[in-house]
Amino acid sequence: MTRRVAVVTGGVGELGRAIVERLLSNGVCVGVLDINAADERARQCAKALSNAAEKLLLLPADVGDFESCSRSINAIEETLGSIDILINCAGITRDGTLRKMTKEQWDSVLSVNLDSVFHTSRHVIEGMISRGFGRIVNIASVNGVKGQFGQTNYSSAKAGMHGFTMALAQEVASKGITVNSVSPGYMNTALVRQVPADVLESIIGQIPVGRLGEPREIAAMVGFLVSGDAAFVTGANFNVNGGLHMH
Ligand code: CAA
Repeated sequence: MTRRVAVVTGGVGELGRAIVERLLSNGVCVGVLDINAADERARQCAKALSNAAEKLLLLPADVGDFESCSRSINAIEETLGSIDILINCAGITRDGTLRKMTKEQWDSVLSVNLDSVFHTSRHVIEGMISRGFGRIVNIASVNGVKGQFGQTNYSSAKAGMHGFTMALAQEVASKGITVNSVSPGYMNTALVRQVPADVLESIIGQIPVGRLGEPREIAAMVGFLVSGDAAFVTGANFNVNGGLHMH
């Protein structure tokens, strides 16, 4: 791939970091927007990727805040160049059945998982249109496709991400820009490891492949979708869930 510039939200988390590593290994420069970009995990991430230091920029940003995204994306463009690729990977869970769910649990999940997709995409779309090239990949979830007990907030946000994907894909298909969703199943990440052990055990028992997915297995799909080979793929959702939900 020619020298491209990507933004990865949530790039300090395990899934995001696997995507960052994949893009760097393809020669892509990467700006990471992450609320944790100034903490110890981010320092470790930067150290581990120090052989690509000149191609990597970690910026603390609240993806739920429009202006925060604007400032960070401007800083990435000034340092690394115009943005060709956007991966919306920042995500949180605040699980609870609806009868126990607070307004804060609802708002925070909708803000970080769904509003963020508008915030980042809105800031990069004009540049992509003017240059006639763009790749946007939204990291949704199996639970946005099938729903999940205890996740009315998260399932709504993730289903909403794919609605956004399909609508924007139509708006920009003629401009050389593709927009796709990847819906991971239960992955070997901190987000999933915080599910109560008995609940998680029962979920793993329902996964035909018989295990959690690994972050690199999502990164591999993203790597394909941002490549030149995927120019005819747009508005699609790719399930990477070990067969947990076939659709
Ligand atoms: N289906 C049907 N009934 C269920 C159920 C299920 N999946 N899970 C629990 N129940 C039942 C309980 O047995 C309980 O029954 P009783 O009232 O008869 O005892 C009832 O529903 C209500 O349970 P509680 O009110 O006790 O539930 P809780 O508030 O203690 O916990 C929960 C509910 C927080 C949702 C908990 O079940 C949980 O953490 N579930 C996991 C949710 C999950 O999968 N999250 C995914 C996180 S990872 C992620 O999101 C990444 C990704 O993209 C995949």
